[in-house]
Amino acid sequence: MLNPCLSLPAQAAALILAKVPQGFVPALAIILGSGLGPLADVIEPLAIIPYGDIPGFHVSTVYGHSGRLIVGVWQGVNVVCLQGRAHFYEGASAVALQVMIRTLRHLGCEQVVITNASGSLRAEVGPGDLMVITDHINFQGINPLVGPNDDTVGSRFVPMDNAYDRDLRTRFLQLASDQGQNLATGVYLGVLGPTFETPAEIRAFRTLGADAVGMSTVAEVILARHAGLKVLGVAIITNLAAGMDEQSLSHEETLSQAKDSAGKLIHLLGLYVASFTA
Ligand code: HPA
Repeated sequence: MLNPCLSLPAQAAALILAKVPQGFVPALAIILGSGLGPLADVIEPLAIIPYGDIPGFHVSTVYGHSGRLIVGVWQGVNVVCLQGRAHFYEGASAVALQVMIRTLRHLGCEQVVITNASGSLRAEVGPGDLMVITDHINFQGINPLVGPNDDTVGSRFVPMDNAYDRDLRTRFLQLASDQGQNLATGVYLGVLGPTFETPAEIRAFRTLGADAVGMSTVAEVILARHAGLKVLGVAIITNLAAGMDEQSLSHEETLSQAKDSAGKLIHLLGLYVASFTA
């Protein structure tokens, strides 16, 4: 029975924890970007819960973004995986995003790995490459913390200088380098969408210092930092950004490229997660 006196994230966490063995605490959460669905299949599941069953969770309307939460064990480590996210371009509210991220904190996570599919603004970083996110530019025209602050979650004014945690990033880059992969790093610029950018916008974003562009991540990172969660962000580059080649962009193309590259990221994330037991 849900307790309506609790906040939505507390209700959501209570519902989730009721489905797993007592004492289960996830070491980390992973938010899966487009095409990364297969990662959910390598987790030994303890519970798989459709978003529609979780109080306050947003049910995605976007093809390729199924909505379910997987709680389980991967590489001997307790994890929670969000397969599907809420995007502002769908009309999802800031509250919907807040509930998803704050639920992770209620579950006991201390860090969240945020993955996404992005367009690259750098010609030498192309489709199939991974980019470890070092920082972001919020170009979504919205901040998910606008409104009264919930002091029980975090402080009113949130520092964003180490939003993408230096230590986690170094650990991930080192693991990749040990595998002979020198991953790109760069600044992610989040747009609202749902349109892809114009070539003029991409030229402007490059001048602003962006290396990759996408329609997610920024709000989740802001909410995670507000709630005291550390963040590792990794983008799968699915295309060169608008105007950089002859191709016209489509969701189907980006989804298909993300699926093709998912194996590479799943492999590295597996090593990353395993390093929590070392
Ligand atoms: N722009 C915005 N979002 C994206 C892109 C892009 O080029 N590629 C994948 N998601």
